[in-house]
Amino acid sequence: MKFYSALSIATVLQLVGTFVHGDVAESVSISDFEADFVTAQIVPEVLTAFNPSVAFYAAYESADGDEAVLMPEAGAPIEFSVENISNGTNVTDASKFIIYMIGPDVPSRSTPTSRNVRHYLAGNFTVSSSNSSVLTSATKLENSTVATNEYVAPTPQSGTGVHRYVYLLYAQPSKFDSIGLENVGLNVSDRMNFNLSIFRTQAGLGPAIGGTYITMDADSGNATSISTDSTKSGGASSTSVSGALALAPVLGAVVLASGL
Ligand SMILES: *[C@@H]1O[C@H](CO)[C@@H](O)[C@H](O)[C@H]1NC(C)=O
Ligand SMILES: *[C@@H]1O[C@H](CO)[C@@H](O)[C@H](O)[C@H]1NC(C)=O
Ligand SMILES: *[C@@H]1O[C@H](CO)[C@@H](O)[C@H](O)[C@H]1NC(C)=O
Ligand SMILES: *[C@@H]1O[C@H](CO)[C@@H](O)[C@H](O)[C@H]1NC(C)=O
Ligand SMILES: *[C@@H]1O[C@H](CO)[C@@H](O)[C@H](O)[C@H]1NC(C)=O
Ligand SMILES: *[C@@H]1O[C@H](CO)[C@@H](O)[C@H](O)[C@H]1NC(C)=O
Ligand SMILES: *[C@@H]1O[C@H](CO)[C@@H](O)[C@H](O)[C@H]1NC(C)=O
Ligand SMILES: *[C@@H]1O[C@H](CO)[C@@H](O)[C@H](O)[C@H]1NC(C)=O
Ligand SMILES: *[C@@H]1O[C@H](CO)[C@@H](O)[C@H](O)[C@H]1NC(C)=O
Repeated sequence: MKFYSALSIATVLQLVGTFVHGDVAESVSISDFEADFVTAQIVPEVLTAFNPSVAFYAAYESADGDEAVLMPEAGAPIEFSVENISNGTNVTDASKFIIYMIGPDVPSRSTPTSRNVRHYLAGNFTVSSSNSSVLTSATKLENSTVATNEYVAPTPQSGTGVHRYVYLLYAQPSKFDSIGLENVGLNVSDRMNFNLSIFRTQAGLGPAIGGTYITMDADSGNATSISTDSTKSGGASSTSVSGALALAPVLGAVVLASGL
């Protein structure tokens, strides 16, 4: 992987034309993460509140190494990373973390009858001793156990407008150090209609300590993420994506219906 072929939801993406080889991704402040969730109306449409205490990043590598081509052509994230993780509510040196990615806008944002679809769910992440290769001030999260639901890439249906995809990071309750998420009543094979408040209650999760998101326009092919462009103060930036709906191949054995 070449350093600058990596793309990140909340780190590397810059406005087309302003990103040049040699640019370095910058941190996003906690207050910008919080504000961007409101700008995207994830709060209140998907979450009643989002009060992050940790900067959380998910990095993707583009399919062709071109940093102007955003995440939709990429496969699974190449890494997750955090800044100031010790500031996280309930976080100790022994903490493990749960991460999931959801698509709330299924089949469309205007008629989200299958809110939410679960694209990814995994626990047992720990803080590694390595820093991110994308954002050098961030520390990578690492995992040593299989995901509960392996990553399945977005495939929004043509004609359904802009879709949001949201990652959330949680402090993992200690019981999950030895049991799986399937033991608390979650139907792990049912990825549709994932109810966050029911799941949080089942699992005993507190509020998310961090999160990030992207948007994809199923019609124009444009995708956005939280920007780290230092000339902007928060808000998603946009880039055009060639081959609008030639989206990522579904990874692994799990195949969801298209249009999610
Ligand atoms: C991390 O904490 C340091 C020290 O408090 C602060 O200067 C920095 O802005 C924080 N970074 C983020 C991304 O919140
Ligand atoms: C710590 O978390 C609080 C929210 O609980 C946030 O307002 C603050 O910016 C965070 N500080 C750092 C240094 O990340
Ligand atoms: C790695 O990340 C830590 C925590 O943010 C930071 O203190 C350190 O300076 C980083 N190391 C490098 C080489 O950037
Ligand atoms: C770590 O997580 C990734 C992404 O879910 C997964 O593909 C990989 O198999 C996991 N590692 C182990 C050792 O299970
Ligand atoms: C965490 O790892 C332990 C030990 O391998 C395993 O028993 C448990 O099911 C895992 N929990 C989650 C949430 O993945
Ligand atoms: C779990 O979800 C799958 C897929 O939707 C479904 O076929 C199955 O009946 C569900 N199991 C239970 C116990 O509800
Ligand atoms: C999730 O479940 C709660 C409690 O049953 C319900 O009030 C809420 O509307 C559900 N959320 C969604 C998005 O269906
Ligand atoms: C922190 O722990 C307390 C007590 O277990 C719990 O009520 C709260 O929801 C947790 N907060 C987070 C963010 O995990
Ligand atoms: C797609 O992105 C390009 C480049 O940023 C922009 O010029 C164009 O207006 C966007 N199109 C839509 C439909 O948002």
